[in-house]
Amino acid sequence: MAAANVNLVAVRDVESLRRRIQGWRREGRTVALVPTMGALHKGHVTLMERAKKMADRVVATIFVNPKQFGPSEDFSAYPRRENQDFEMLNGAGVHLLFAPDVGAMYPPNFATSIRMSGIGEILDGAHRPGHFDGVATVVAKLLLQALPDIALFGEKDYQQLVLIRRLVADLNIPVDIIGVETVREADGLALSSRNAYLTANERAKAPALYAAITTAAKAIAQGENIAAAVSSARENILASGFSSVDYVDARHAETLAPLGSNAEPGRVLVAAHLGRARLIDNAAVPRG
Ligand code: PAJ
Repeated sequence: MAAANVNLVAVRDVESLRRRIQGWRREGRTVALVPTMGALHKGHVTLMERAKKMADRVVATIFVNPKQFGPSEDFSAYPRRENQDFEMLNGAGVHLLFAPDVGAMYPPNFATSIRMSGIGEILDGAHRPGHFDGVATVVAKLLLQALPDIALFGEKDYQQLVLIRRLVADLNIPVDIIGVETVREADGLALSSRNAYLTANERAKAPALYAAITTAAKAIAQGENIAAAVSSARENILASGFSSVDYVDARHAETLAPLGSNAEPGRVLVAAHLGRARLIDNAAVPRG
């Protein structure tokens, strides 16, 4: 068999990243950045494909960011498969991979942290203290290291997407943030690197999460009481075999303030535990 064509270049330090990107800039090319933590799946690849359509050059990053994991979370267990990831990115036509190690991102004496008050402290932020500060800090670094024209993030992590829009507005980082719709399995389960934690039995139960929030979102659109719709979703999730629900709530799609009525753009957001996995998902309240 002929060896696969390899065009993807990997760099591990900021200087090499900047040198490559500056070369493209001199040629007048536009640049898209797609940050990830690796263990790539079709959801990530969809972000890369969208990036390719929107910019001349695509830079992917892989960095499992210790600052966004709590002390009892899965930082060391988080799946790492860089060779497979490299093949996937190369196959998707990504031009450059930036994969720094922890020491390059956070050298000794690193002292800066970005604190996202309000939006970083609700929903997932209330259950994962410091998580969104860690996300904001690493995303700000990646954006300033690469200075891309656009950066793409998935709606799968909806609160993260809203928070990153806030971050770049607050810090005047000159980049357009592009949200990409969630890629799902045929049965509705959102693709996630953490689905690997599910046993076969749990995997069979997992689609109930998306089913419950889409039912709630439709009910809200049809005028059902918001609190009642959210509370049925919680009951359905627990009845389907999830051990606990961290939160399920209907929020304003742009501010994440509690949803006042179905006249506002709405989003139902959820986090729930199934076996070893903590799954998050969200669904838009359809507009009439
Ligand atoms: P990670 O979980 O690897 O996700 C990288 C990007 O892929 C995020 O923007 C995420 O929303 C998107 N993504 C994941 N699953 C998706 C799916 N099923 N459909 C569409 N997009 C999906 O999110 C992170 O990494 C990190 O917090 C990061 C932003 C890289 C900062 O460390």
